[in-house]
Amino acid sequence: MPNKIKKLAVLTSGGDSPGMNAAIRSVVRTCAYHEIQCIGVYRGYEGLIEGDFKPMGARSVRGIINKGGTILKSARSKEFRTPEGRQKAYQNLVDHEVDGLVVIGGDGSFTGALIFNQEFGFPVMGIPGTIDNDIFGTSHTLGFDTALNTVVDAIDKIRDTASSHNRLFFIEVMGRDVGHIALNTGIAGGAEEILIPEEDLGLDRLVDSLNKSRKSGKTSSIVIVAEGDKIGKNIFELKEFVDENMEGYDVRVSVLGHMQRGGSPSCFDRVLASRMGVKAVETLLEGKTNYMVGLLANKIELTHLDKAIKGKTKINLELLRVSDIMST
Ligand code: F6P
Repeated sequence: MPNKIKKLAVLTSGGDSPGMNAAIRSVVRTCAYHEIQCIGVYRGYEGLIEGDFKPMGARSVRGIINKGGTILKSARSKEFRTPEGRQKAYQNLVDHEVDGLVVIGGDGSFTGALIFNQEFGFPVMGIPGTIDNDIFGTSHTLGFDTALNTVVDAIDKIRDTASSHNRLFFIEVMGRDVGHIALNTGIAGGAEEILIPEEDLGLDRLVDSLNKSRKSGKTSSIVIVAEGDKIGKNIFELKEFVDENMEGYDVRVSVLGHMQRGGSPSCFDRVLASRMGVKAVETLLEGKTNYMVGLLANKIELTHLDKAIKGKTKINLELLRVSDIMST
């Protein structure tokens, strides 16, 4: 492997997700394996601008593969959006003799990395870390699988109350712009209806469907609502509408919130993070830049950052159909 690179830096940026620590560990250990130095950057691009760096070796990432969150901490940096901020970041990397940067984060973090490369020619690589699974070029982002398991666990618990009290529960899950979490957990949790931003079927259809299922003998129901769903202003408005337009159901709302982003990563996310970290470092060592590593047909593949940022993930239509059939 041609290797002009002697030192890499790694940072986590944007919303944290389970598996980020496993990815940091993988980047650091792959650097150690190839006998190059590695620097951890704290608080994402904020730390890059402030020079908040710490050298990391194979032993500095012990005991973190099973930990949620990110030991490097994360932030959303306004200053990095300015040319002055990026200039400071570049100077810090030059002063520390860093030759390449691995960014673990979502599309906003990748946009920053790409602009940074275009301005300074600095080699960058992306590892997709977000529970939303909304990044083009990978079937799974880091943290998605863990978040699905966390949400299904919560739905199962809420179902106990729903069925004991004959209640209808609206459960809000994360997904600002996409319904991947809602659709998958809705099917796995046996939801009656799944409301996602990609599909707005209207409030009347929702009430019709709930009425139909009650007439068919169901005594309780669960509706999964993605945070970014457009059908009502918010989940509480949905509840009000159903309260006013349906009789006989005691309706409750449960917003799962940030508990979905935490917790120990699943086996799947740990393995994925380990594979992605190796590929990210080795791609930089091959002299390539501006790629994101992703999982496609169970292989780790490269997608240009520009495509990863601009491409849209599509909702799986087969899952929508399965969910319709399952709620019969
Ligand atoms: O991008 C991941 C995500 O979990 C979204 O689903 C959610 O809308 C957002 O982060 C919440 O962000 P914050 O932690 O800044 O409130």
